[in-house]
Amino acid sequence: LVLRLLAAHRTQVELRSLELAAAKIVVAAAVVREGKLLVQQRSYPMSLAGKWELPGGRVEPGETEVEALVRECHEEMGVVVRPLGRLGPDIPLPGVGLLRTHTAWLDAADVQPRAVEHRAVRWVAAAHLAGLDWVAADRVLVPALVALTEQV
Ligand code: C5P
Repeated sequence: LVLRLLAAHRTQVELRSLELAAAKIVVAAAVVREGKLLVQQRSYPMSLAGKWELPGGRVEPGETEVEALVRECHEEMGVVVRPLGRLGPDIPLPGVGLLRTHTAWLDAADVQPRAVEHRAVRWVAAAHLAGLDWVAADRVLVPALVALTEQV
């Protein structure tokens, strides 16, 4: 019996480390300009369409988080952001991995972000952030996003 319990425990430990190895990082950008935060409205999948999130996406193999953040913002909004540093906690994305947020700079002289893959892109003041219909993971970030938006 002891041996069987030990074997079961080992299997669990092995499964857990496989899970951890498979955990993917999704990076998100918190871009603030003139007291407003840049947010996007999802157009897919159906269950998330209409909800708001930070720009971002999966870090691809061989890519750093910073590279992924710059690439995703360019693909999604046609702009080149400059990542500055981490913001807030890592948030578990069930079945996907972890959502990790970086603040990022977007020069005022740059082209305006536009919705390439999303339904809409909007600049939102701190006072209106809590009232958005956020996707679940990003909602956890709202206190950190409000603090950031108030301070920039
Ligand atoms: O946008 P994409 O589908 O590539 O995102 C990968 C995963 O990360 C999805 O599960 C999406 O819901 C999640 N995500 C998120 N918050 C973001 C960006 C992506 O929860 N700001």
